[in-house]
Amino acid sequence: MTGPGGEISEAKGRKAAMRALMALAVFLGLAAFIFVLSPPARYDWAKAIHVVAVISWMAGMLYLPRLFVYHCDAEPGSVQADTFVVMERRLLKVIMLPAMIVSWAVGLWLAWTGAFFLEIWFIGKLVAVLIMSWAHGYLAKSARLFAEGRNDKPARHWRIVNEVPTIAMIAAVILVIVKPF
Ligand code: HEM
Repeated sequence: MTGPGGEISEAKGRKAAMRALMALAVFLGLAAFIFVLSPPARYDWAKAIHVVAVISWMAGMLYLPRLFVYHCDAEPGSVQADTFVVMERRLLKVIMLPAMIVSWAVGLWLAWTGAFFLEIWFIGKLVAVLIMSWAHGYLAKSARLFAEGRNDKPARHWRIVNEVPTIAMIAAVILVIVKPF
C-alpha cells in the first residue's frame, strides 16, 4: 500500500510481525522449559501446547475463507477492500503461520516420543493434517491474489473452500482421540 495511510499500515504490520516473532519465541521458550520436567509431565505439557497451537491455527483456517467471502463484495482498491487485505495478511502472519509451525513441531515430537509413526490412526491423521497444510498454502496464495486485486473466484467458491479445513479437522480429532484403527 502507498501514501501516508499505507505507511502507517506498513508500520503497524511490522509491529504485528514483531509480536508474532515474540509469540513464537515464548512458545519455543516454553518448549525449552518443559524439557527440565520428568518425561510423563513433559509429554502432557507438550500435548497441551500442541492443542493450544492447533486451536489457534484452526481459528484462522476457519475465519480466513469467511473474510474472502466478504472481500468478494468489496470494490478492488476501495477502503473496505484495503481493510480486508490488512486483516487477511495479519491473520496469516501473526496467528496462522506461527500456530501451524508450533502444531507441526510439537506434533512431530509427540509422535516420535510416543513411537506412533507406524500406527494406522497416526498415518490417517498425518493425511488429514497434510490436507490442512495444503489448504493453508492455498489460502495464503489466495490472500496475495486478493491483495493484488486479482481474485477471480466468486463468494460461493470460498464458502466451499471453508469446508476443507472443517472436514480435515474433524477427521484429525477423531483419529487422534478415538484412535479407531
Ligand atoms: C501438524 C501436524 C500434527 C501432528 C504431527 C500431530 C501429532 C499428534 C500426536 C502424536 C499427538 C499425541 C497423541 C497421543 O498422545 O495419543 C497429538 C495430540 C493431539 N492432536 Fe495433533 N498433530 C498435528 C496436528 C493436529 C491438528 C491439525 C489437530 C486438530 C485439528 C490436532 C489435534 C490433536 C488433539 C486434540 C490431540 C490430543 C489428543 C489426546 O490427548 O487425546 N493435531 N497430535
